[in-house]
Amino acid sequence: MDKLLISGGRSLEGSLRASGAKNSALPILASSILLKDKMTIRNIPHLNDITTMIELLSSMGAEMTVDENMDLEINSSNLENPLARYELVKTMRASILVLGPLLSRYHEAEVALPGGCAIGSRPVNLHIDCMRQLGAEIDIVDGYIKAKAKDGLKGGNINFSNVTVTGTENAIMAGVLAKGTTTISNAAKEPEVVDLVACLRKMGAKIFGEGTDRIEINGVNALEPCDYSVMADRIEIGTYLTAVTMTKGNVSIKCSLPSVLETILDKLKIAGANIQIDEEGINLEMDKIPNPVNISTAPFPLFPTDMQAQFIALNSISKGKSKVIENVFENRFMHVQELIRMGGNIRLEGNTAYIEGNTKGLIAAPVMATDLRASASLVLAGLVAKGQTKVDRIYHIDRGYERIEEKLNLLGANIERVSE
Ligand code: EPU
Repeated sequence: MDKLLISGGRSLEGSLRASGAKNSALPILASSILLKDKMTIRNIPHLNDITTMIELLSSMGAEMTVDENMDLEINSSNLENPLARYELVKTMRASILVLGPLLSRYHEAEVALPGGCAIGSRPVNLHIDCMRQLGAEIDIVDGYIKAKAKDGLKGGNINFSNVTVTGTENAIMAGVLAKGTTTISNAAKEPEVVDLVACLRKMGAKIFGEGTDRIEINGVNALEPCDYSVMADRIEIGTYLTAVTMTKGNVSIKCSLPSVLETILDKLKIAGANIQIDEEGINLEMDKIPNPVNISTAPFPLFPTDMQAQFIALNSISKGKSKVIENVFENRFMHVQELIRMGGNIRLEGNTAYIEGNTKGLIAAPVMATDLRASASLVLAGLVAKGQTKVDRIYHIDRGYERIEEKLNLLGANIERVSE
């Protein structure tokens, strides 16, 4: 199993290219099911979760070619098996994203129920409820969601009791070919939802209100081929900017996303980072021990849960006390015990972490990655710790960060990937 060996203590300097967004590429790949033709998707990140989605679509009969830039041509015209098998779904919860498009195109689908998850129970009840709202009959049999809409999906009013990102994406994809109008209230406003809608609109879908909490979709008969480039990954960018802040570095990241990064950038400014934005992207410079930053996670446009772990790592080396509240997932603090093993002074009470910055710095230790963002926080801690940190189970990192050690080493880090 691969591990990362990180020799801490180096400042990150230089410039970096952001990868395509995992959480926007996944629904966009799933949306190809809606099209009985070829489409081209560009700027797909090279990640394990993307490979899983590609395998899932291939298992249903989609044909694909990928070039060296990870530009993918996908042909779903021969897709004929609306079944998402447990063997693939169990490795990635986002597989549930095929439910809406399969139902929409085939009027039936069988999708394995995703299992447990390291960051909480993460049910899919909202996905199921919204398909029922559009006329599907759904039974749960032998661990599978068996869904049928004999005469096709019909527009309906979906009112999510809780903001759900992939639930909103599934509802949008289901509504695109449904008869009549679908409305989604309490919709997720995440930029990745907006990116999916931009792609669907290029395919001829009639969707209004994305980026707000009310989305309206007027069903169309069929979609057309398109060529779409996935947006940059705001969480990857946020993670690297936090690393630069922690290592007192100076890095420019080429991207066109500053507005969707506003909340994260505001928090990094509170930490003391000097941030400049121009048409090329973002430059961040930091020359002192970070100030502590209070965080409370919530759906977009508030602070993303996917950046919570990285900010706990930052607060662990800050000069003062901070409080980090996790409001989105029930159990997303698995990194805390590992950070404590590196000298972090963190106390957990319910959904709140109380952190007292250790200005003497962290100390390297063997640590275990437990989920994607938890792993990222351990890499960040390793970059500033005294000595060599060994991060185990890094397959979690490979699910969501493209060539993390190569990108950080280009900025002057000293990280080695070893197989043991
Ligand atoms: N929820 C339910 N029932 C459902 C669906 C969600 O109770 O049917 C609850 C969840 O348990 C959670 C809350 O609603 O407490 C929000 O979950 P959401 O559905 O928004 O999460 P998701 O769509 O499964 C996406 C991202 C996550 C990200 C969350 C929140 C993708 C593929 N995944 O998950 O990304 O943390 O939204 O922003 O888009 C990551 O990239 O590391 C990651 C976990």
